[in-house]
Amino acid sequence: MARHSHTRVAVEQGKSMSVNSLKGAFFARSALFASLALGIFLLTESVRAADPVVIKFSHVVAPDTPKGKAAEKFKQLAEERTKGAVKIEIYPNSQLYKDKEELETLQLGTVQMLAPSLSKFGPLGAKEFEVFDLPYIFPSQAALRSVVDGPIGARLLKKLEGSGILGLAFWDNGFKVMSANKPLHVPSDFKGLKMRIQSSKVLDAQMRALSALPQVMAFSEVYQALQTGVVDGTENPPSNLYTQKMHEVQKHVTVSEHGYLGYAVVVNKAFWEGLPADVRSALNAAMKEATAYANEIAEQENIKALDAVNASGRTEIYVLTPAERAAWRAALLPVHQEMAGRIGADLIESINTTVTGP
Ligand code: LMR
Repeated sequence: MARHSHTRVAVEQGKSMSVNSLKGAFFARSALFASLALGIFLLTESVRAADPVVIKFSHVVAPDTPKGKAAEKFKQLAEERTKGAVKIEIYPNSQLYKDKEELETLQLGTVQMLAPSLSKFGPLGAKEFEVFDLPYIFPSQAALRSVVDGPIGARLLKKLEGSGILGLAFWDNGFKVMSANKPLHVPSDFKGLKMRIQSSKVLDAQMRALSALPQVMAFSEVYQALQTGVVDGTENPPSNLYTQKMHEVQKHVTVSEHGYLGYAVVVNKAFWEGLPADVRSALNAAMKEATAYANEIAEQENIKALDAVNASGRTEIYVLTPAERAAWRAALLPVHQEMAGRIGADLIESINTTVTGP
């Protein structure tokens, strides 16, 4: 009995002790949880401040070009607007990757942002982008903008999504000149010349239409190839020609404006969509502003670059006469028809309608 009551008392005591200790444990745990939560919050904040999201922006041209300057502008605006939560690291001049590699690494997520020329998306399967390479398709920069800023531009960017790439904007460079070590006035002057081109089938057809021999080559290799005679000539807007010093190894430049060169700013889709919504919208706003800046400075940058080539005295600059221009057009316009099967007759038609009206 006594044993039993003792046991009972013990049980009673045990019960009452356990209520007390439960209360104590409850308060202790609440305090622990609160301090843990505070710790995690402080840690997150300090990680956020000390460890910003890094966006590697790789490109192949010099910093002192329309694309180089626009990239810097984006960096400045993006870092300001995200208040240090994002850091943009720019790698110009193919420092990290050359043309073809940079698109592959973007897909892998090794870099997060690029601005390849529109001529470089063909190998990714987006053949429609080569429409921008068609000779004389855009009568002016304004006509080009009406296409890229409208539904055609949006549709083209959408095409990249299947490759894990998101298109954010179109940045201008400008209309191209041709260069070589001999004067290029009429189409027959190109006969047999080895001409460096970007990886675009339309540019290949364009050079063949001039009876030249096109050679695809990474941008970073062009200067040396011209210097050593691996190729005889090339095409690019003056800003690229000048900042890569190509004029030092090309005696003649023809202002032909036979084609356009511009860029699509692209990001790794999974990376971009994984950013916090507030960060992404600040970056989108920065991109919008950087795009306006890019498209505002491009034309002037090319005029300045052509003046600088002229002032260098190393290259003779020739502007086509109206008759010569007509001969170039006659030689090059058949490329539209020839490439319609590859890039889409409808797309060419809708661009023609947009730039000239129905
Ligand atoms: C080229 O390869 O000639 C250009 O695409 C370079 C560039 O990015 O402007």
